[in-house]
Amino acid sequence: MKYYISPSLLAADFTRLGDEVKKIERGGAAMLHLDVMDGTFVPNISFGLPVIESLRPISSLIFDVHLMITEPHRYIERFAEAGADIITFHYESNSDVASTIELIKKAGKRVSLSISPDTPAEAIFPYLSELDMVLVMTVYPGFGGQKLIPATLQKVKALRDYITEHSLSVNIEVDGGISPANVADVARAGANVIVAGSSVFHADDPTAAISAMLQGASNT
Ligand code: DX5
Ligand code: ZN
Repeated sequence: MKYYISPSLLAADFTRLGDEVKKIERGGAAMLHLDVMDGTFVPNISFGLPVIESLRPISSLIFDVHLMITEPHRYIERFAEAGADIITFHYESNSDVASTIELIKKAGKRVSLSISPDTPAEAIFPYLSELDMVLVMTVYPGFGGQKLIPATLQKVKALRDYITEHSLSVNIEVDGGISPANVADVARAGANVIVAGSSVFHADDPTAAISAMLQGASNT
């Protein structure tokens, strides 16, 4: 299994975003996780298009955009133009899932669908063959720095089993409360794209944190 670390910008120092991104790029991150929150789908507001657009020219990381917004279908084209490589939207949002998947494909971007902790894995089985990635939230979306909810890992396992049984090639991303201490648990459950906010950006040595997570995942 190939593993990827996708540090979440939400935990970075916002007074120096460019340097923060360059630091994790040098440190071995494969992706940059960009959490877009609208204050309605989740009870928090983060950042949006201008931040992504500004960072695009300074980084060649895969921009992994996580839309926590109510009507994602209305903004797909704009996030594609801003520089997203992967666009994740939520199953629980009020956009039609099949047509939003189509919109992302039409924009030429990789498609990913996310489920929050209360949504069962089976809800997205019908869409898996159309997806490049699924994002299993391991915390309730909205805030960084929360503790991973262990029950969500059963959903990771159910999705990995389904993907394997049907010979699909879909990455499984996990997001929320992941650190070198529990990365082996998420990898063992079947996740291969690891989002990490606080455990990378708040670490004394972010490069060491990224290496520790890659190592911890690969050793499973
Ligand atoms: C939560 C966000 C996460 C968050 C992860 O709504 O989707 O990406 O930033 O942060 P940590 O790793 O600190 O839990
Ligand atoms: Zn996220």
